[in-house]
Amino acid sequence: MGSTLITRIGTLVTNDPALGDGGPLGRIEDAALVLDGGTVAWAGRAADAPAADEVHDAEGRAVVPGFVDSHSHLVFAGDRTAEFNARMSGRSYSAGGIRTTVAATRAASDEALEANLTHYLDEALHQGTTTFETKSGYGLTVADEARALRIAARHTEEVTYLGAHIVSPDYADDPAGYVALVTGEMLDACAPHARWVDVFCEKGAFDGDQARAVLTAGMAKGLVPRVHANQLTHGPGVQLAVELDAASADHCTHLTRADVDALASGNTVATLLPGAEFSTRAEWPDARRLLDAGATVALSTDCNPGSSFTSSMPFCIALAVRDMGMTPDEAVWSATAGGAAALRRTDIGRLSPGARADLTVLDAPSHVHLAYRPGVPLVHAVWRRGARAV
Ligand code: NIG
Ligand code: FE
Repeated sequence: MGSTLITRIGTLVTNDPALGDGGPLGRIEDAALVLDGGTVAWAGRAADAPAADEVHDAEGRAVVPGFVDSHSHLVFAGDRTAEFNARMSGRSYSAGGIRTTVAATRAASDEALEANLTHYLDEALHQGTTTFETKSGYGLTVADEARALRIAARHTEEVTYLGAHIVSPDYADDPAGYVALVTGEMLDACAPHARWVDVFCEKGAFDGDQARAVLTAGMAKGLVPRVHANQLTHGPGVQLAVELDAASADHCTHLTRADVDALASGNTVATLLPGAEFSTRAEWPDARRLLDAGATVALSTDCNPGSSFTSSMPFCIALAVRDMGMTPDEAVWSATAGGAAALRRTDIGRLSPGARADLTVLDAPSHVHLAYRPGVPLVHAVWRRGARAV
């Protein structure tokens, strides 16, 4: 594969403050990019672009880094239409619905689970997502959790062990026994297939002490923590995440001042998942408060059949701008560079020299249209590792 020049880009978002307008998005108008060997070799004004083996004309379209979806639950079977319908008639969301998906997932063949996963990955790719994280959590036995991670690892390096999603129905009367399994035999079987360890720290799932036990056991096996924290209620999840230097505290819907301060002062990214609030008719996380305090914010889909059945990062950007107090610039940054930070990656989420050549070409002159034109399929093309993928 030789070098490729993408020229006549309307607005290029590089996320490199050293480039372009000097803001966090490193925006360049009338721009061009050179891709070589799967990475970005050059970014700048089209008028200054070097020659390349191949030339693509973007015809004034905007180019953004491929979206980094740092939180999804895509190894599952079945759907929960009935539960969604009941919610839209006034029923409230609870973690208990997870059991429905656990039953369907256990009953599914490996082939069916993988086909379902690739279906949603393809859906996400067509909406501009070039990197995604995904988790176990709908198996809740040693064998079912390990197989979920094995299947996920065939499609992404960002694999998360979430044996502690809820207490397995098989241990309904013995939650301590389930935590012992998750931190013992299940962890041993799962750790080789995962990079991250996660826990749903919430009423009806795992309390602070249980969550700490799960995360520290995973860390002892070399996994890096991330936490489902403060989604449905105030709780200890965010503080625990920051204390353990977790890569990310995810959801962050119900935060105290101390939670916000902790996120602002630590390395833990606050990952907001507006698809979940949309689909559970819950109160929106306050992105503005987090940003004003100085926290790093990521946006992600949380794609799962229960609380957030969307694979669309553009939809999440639009919600975050409309309902969470983010500007379009902030939301696009959070869906790209923010996601990369939540995955502790420096090679993605930006389009400056040395970065992976993962990019999304929009059928629009600027990235702002992602929020300005909600619900419109604006993804014109997607390049992954320097090759056209869509
Ligand atoms: O992130 N919060 C816990 N887990 C998922 C929901 C899973 C489900 O309802 O199936 C979430 O929203
Ligand atoms: Fe989740």
